[in-house]
Amino acid sequence: MGSGRLSGRTAVITGGSSGIGLATAHRFLAEGANVLIGDYNEEAAASTIEKLRSDGHGDAVQVMRADVSQEGDVKALMGRALDVFGSLDVVFNNAGIGGAIGPIVETEVDHWDATFAVMMRGVFLGVKHAAKIMMTLGGGSIINTASIAGLSSGVPPTAYSATKAAVLSFTKNAAAELAEHKIRVNAVSPGIIFTKLMHQGRDELAETTMRIVQPWPERGQPEHVANTLVFLASEESSFVTGESIAVDGGYLANGLLRMHPLPGAKTKPDYAGITYGLTGRPRDVRKLS
Ligand SMILES: NC(=O)c1ccc[n+]([C@@H]2O[C@H](COP(=O)([O-])OP(=O)(O)OC[C@H]3O[C@@H](n4cnc5c(N)ncnc54)[C@H](O)[C@@H]3O)[C@@H](O)[C@H]2O)c1
Repeated sequence: MGSGRLSGRTAVITGGSSGIGLATAHRFLAEGANVLIGDYNEEAAASTIEKLRSDGHGDAVQVMRADVSQEGDVKALMGRALDVFGSLDVVFNNAGIGGAIGPIVETEVDHWDATFAVMMRGVFLGVKHAAKIMMTLGGGSIINTASIAGLSSGVPPTAYSATKAAVLSFTKNAAAELAEHKIRVNAVSPGIIFTKLMHQGRDELAETTMRIVQPWPERGQPEHVANTLVFLASEESSFVTGESIAVDGGYLANGLLRMHPLPGAKTKPDYAGITYGLTGRPRDVRKLS
């Protein structure tokens, strides 16, 4: 057995054929885990397994076609991990789509429901069937992918954002309910991460948006999220549950007035010192050169 932080553990990753899920599969494998990827896209899953195996991971990585919105598929996915690897220690409920787009008054009920089916029902089913197995094994770590879209307003599409807010609420309640079984449930909330789902081939547009809303000057990469996943999956976070960790280059730290400064406001302050409000004490402020 290797010496990685996830050595000997078994992880299921949904949506693991692309983007954040794929980067996490790479990191988990490098940390010594066995990984079962569940993905809707069979073709992508097949080329993923080929690539990961040619990277030397052999039978430590397996894939299975699974639609996270279907209870039978999710149950079978969790069961497969147990059958093949003999345990189930970590589940990353990460599969996602853009979902319904456009104004609310133009949104079809079917599109709204299909968005929730993947993004919220998928997470519910992932937690349900992971927990059923983990309860018999003495515990585990479940991580759900939420988003900054669930933590702030103004991030379209509306249906997508609503699912992510629901995921955050569900994560807390699941954490409280499952704690007695030593099953931790946390969320990761990515900001702007350069994956196909995010830029949809419009790389320049994505870059421009990023420069407006994100203080950190570099692009968010799937690996940034994957590194946080290693922490949440490993014993290093053994007392962390019901938490959401934003991986967003300061997006949430960036208040509205920073993005849209008031008329006449400087982008960087040109003064420093202290003011004492209504105390009557004189302010002590100096101009910066
Ligand atoms: N990229 C970002 O900027 C960003 C930001 C916040 C949150 N997220 C979230 O991160 C997660 C991963 O996104 P990504 O950017 O890596 O996207 P991606 O499109 O690169 O990967 C998503 C994967 O999920 C799979 N998938 C979609 N529907 C599925 C289903 N019903 N069943 C099983 N698999 C399914 C896809 O086939 C794909 O492999 C999503 O939940 C997304 O909402 C992404």
